[in-house]
Amino acid sequence: MITRKSSREIEMMDEAGTLLANCHKEIAKRIKPGVTTKEIDDFVEDYLAKHGATPEQKGYNGYEFATCASINDEICHGFPRDEKLVEGDIVTIDMVVNLNGGLADSAWTYVVGEADEKTQRLLDVTKTSLYKGIEQAKEGSRIGDIGHAIQKYAEAEGYAVVRDFTGHGIGPTIHEEPHIPHFGLPNKGLRLKEGMVITIEPMINEGTWKSQMDSNNWTARTVDGSRSAQYEHTIVITKEGPRILTDQD
Ligand code: MF3
Ligand code: CO
Repeated sequence: MITRKSSREIEMMDEAGTLLANCHKEIAKRIKPGVTTKEIDDFVEDYLAKHGATPEQKGYNGYEFATCASINDEICHGFPRDEKLVEGDIVTIDMVVNLNGGLADSAWTYVVGEADEKTQRLLDVTKTSLYKGIEQAKEGSRIGDIGHAIQKYAEAEGYAVVRDFTGHGIGPTIHEEPHIPHFGLPNKGLRLKEGMVITIEPMINEGTWKSQMDSNNWTARTVDGSRSAQYEHTIVITKEGPRILTDQD
């Protein structure tokens, strides 16, 4: 079932989104060589508790952590762990914040230390592809318009779009209908309506789009060992256009 949120629900999700955005800004200051993703995960749990919020991912379908931390060729759902990040790694931190029942979901890819040119381009194209998708997220557009805008841009830049994981409706649980693929055909699929809240979260690979599942049954990684980046926002469909709830600016 696809729900449309009341203005009160949207305000609650907006508050969760602001907290999540602030948490990402704190993470950005802490990502450096020698830090572990377990330390980042502990920081997030503490930060949310201090602000009266909880990590919605923890316990979700048995997932054990506050964040997903996906390093280099890991596409998504990487487990936070004790391995130290090293100069040049890329790491995607993804989390869902629950503040008084309002949810927001946002992922961000960070570079550890200095980004070289190849890394910077991967991150820039991935982030721009998210915003190309967001531009389409308005009343009257169709779901295919979002995926098409992302795929057209990312592939023209020489990258591949992951097919096995999609954006989604969100609230009151993490994953609600509809699915929002990051590839597709314009003018196809469900029409977006005011009050729908969705995530857009393209995972963009340097090599093939194909993914494989780790033996932990959670973590997806590229089949060719190439790196994968991801940016994600939670967005409300309004008559005036997309409203980003997890904006960091
Ligand atoms: N934030 C993730 C997403 O965008 C949710 C991961 S579910 C978890 O869909 F259980 F792995 F945390
Ligand atoms: Co999501």
